[in-house]
Amino acid sequence: MIILLASAELDHFAKVGGLADISAALPRGWADLSHEPIVIIPKYQCITDFTEIHSTNIEFTICNLSVRVFKSHLPESTISVYLLECDELYDRPGIYGNPDGYEDNDLRFYVLCKAAFELMIELNISPDVISAHDYHTALLMPLLKIDYARHPQFLNTKGVLTIHNAQYQGWYDNERIREFSHWEFIEKDSHSPFLFHDHFNALYSGINFSDAIIAVSPGYANEILTEEYGAGLHEVFNNNRHKLSGILNGVNYGLWNPSDDCHINQHFTILDKSGKVQGRKFLLQSLFDDEKDLLPDSLPVFGIVSRFTEQKGFELLEDCIENCLKDKKIRLIVLGSGDARYEDYFSRIQNSFPGYCSYTRGYDEELAHRILAYADFFLMPSLFEPCGLTQLYAMKYGTIPIVRHVGGLKDTIEDFNQIQLIGNGITFSEFTSSALLRAIDMAIDIYGNKSLMNPLIDNAMHCDYSIHKTAIQYIESFETLKERH
Ligand code: ADP
Ligand code: GLC
Repeated sequence: MIILLASAELDHFAKVGGLADISAALPRGWADLSHEPIVIIPKYQCITDFTEIHSTNIEFTICNLSVRVFKSHLPESTISVYLLECDELYDRPGIYGNPDGYEDNDLRFYVLCKAAFELMIELNISPDVISAHDYHTALLMPLLKIDYARHPQFLNTKGVLTIHNAQYQGWYDNERIREFSHWEFIEKDSHSPFLFHDHFNALYSGINFSDAIIAVSPGYANEILTEEYGAGLHEVFNNNRHKLSGILNGVNYGLWNPSDDCHINQHFTILDKSGKVQGRKFLLQSLFDDEKDLLPDSLPVFGIVSRFTEQKGFELLEDCIENCLKDKKIRLIVLGSGDARYEDYFSRIQNSFPGYCSYTRGYDEELAHRILAYADFFLMPSLFEPCGLTQLYAMKYGTIPIVRHVGGLKDTIEDFNQIQLIGNGITFSEFTSSALLRAIDMAIDIYGNKSLMNPLIDNAMHCDYSIHKTAIQYIESFETLKERH
């Protein structure tokens, strides 16, 4: 099968969060199954440093903008990555524009979607499936069913929309989108496949025009049918239930593996964990300068690596983690950036508890790997979590996730049973500080008892959430669609 994947993010090229990881891991999984993935992304300003990008002679005009196509590949693979150069749209800092997004994100992502089709025409490729990811590329779906419906190259092409996060929907200005797409819709038409509550909504449009919708975990696929987690679209998801399924994300263990992770120096395996002990010590030394508290086993180290948004549930820490730090029961290592509220909070507790809390603001690939590899516990108290990848990465390194029982966290983390010694993490259900505190206290107790902590670590390290399994399920879903036609 030829599968065209278009995304706003792609690991190694442009990353904000897990969307990048999966946009890169899925094509690898498909290629390993002998399919032919093709990836297309914008050539953002941050991508210019790469040497392995070549110009092509492909150029087209979309919405009066000149778009030039460059070509690269996913590292250590032959998977083609096409990059769209259009300085008016993409030659600026970041990917989305913070904090509220660039005003012309409608045009930036519409051009990406339209260019995906024009590129296929230039290359004379007929994809079997077009794989869209989140609202940014959701407009591939109406383009397939309207603009390119009669084009001979796309007569048998199926459109599949993966939902990584239904909260971001792409509410675009009706007039602007009408002007550059030429799609016809009438305001106040409650049946319009484009308009949700009278406003153009990219995700809603993608849902309506797709052949299938995949949520990034079975748990999230169920949750988005409910008012609590559907981000206003629960009725829309219910109406489209016949084409909705959940496929759990997976991990590229080529990148996230304690035995050969290129971002860490002390490697280890499930049989010989001495590298973790050493790495943990070096991590603490690099982040804290007080020697006296550096006894490697003295206090459990809790790690956080995250975007800071309301989704991640860090407000729950505000009433509980300070007490743990004040009582010198734990050390906390935080890496992340985002909403000022959380950045200020972590800066404040770092200042209040020197030697016990370290906060690094920003995005740092290497430090992210080191925290995930060498901490004892990894905190994810999410309000909602469509899948979550960091809990999966953490487990591979024997770093025990403490998670709220929601979405993909619920699907992947089983609470540790101290009698039967089964389970791979510590979970809590209620979205309250007291529930989180109970989970943290449980973690501290388990950490103090090696006959519990060791089997828990082994259980976590044994888990296999490989992208291979995810890729197989996507292909099964694509094949079902193709058979149906
Ligand atoms: P989300 O996509 O909601 O942010 P995921 O758990 O699916 O959450 O994926 C997050 C990805 O982003 C992981 O690869 C994680 O390591 C990475 N990440 C998050 N914050 C940072 C950061 N500050 N520095 C480096 N990597 C980060
Ligand atoms: C989104 C979700 C996260 C998921 C990721 C990759 O960013 O917030 O839960 O793991 O996409 O699918």
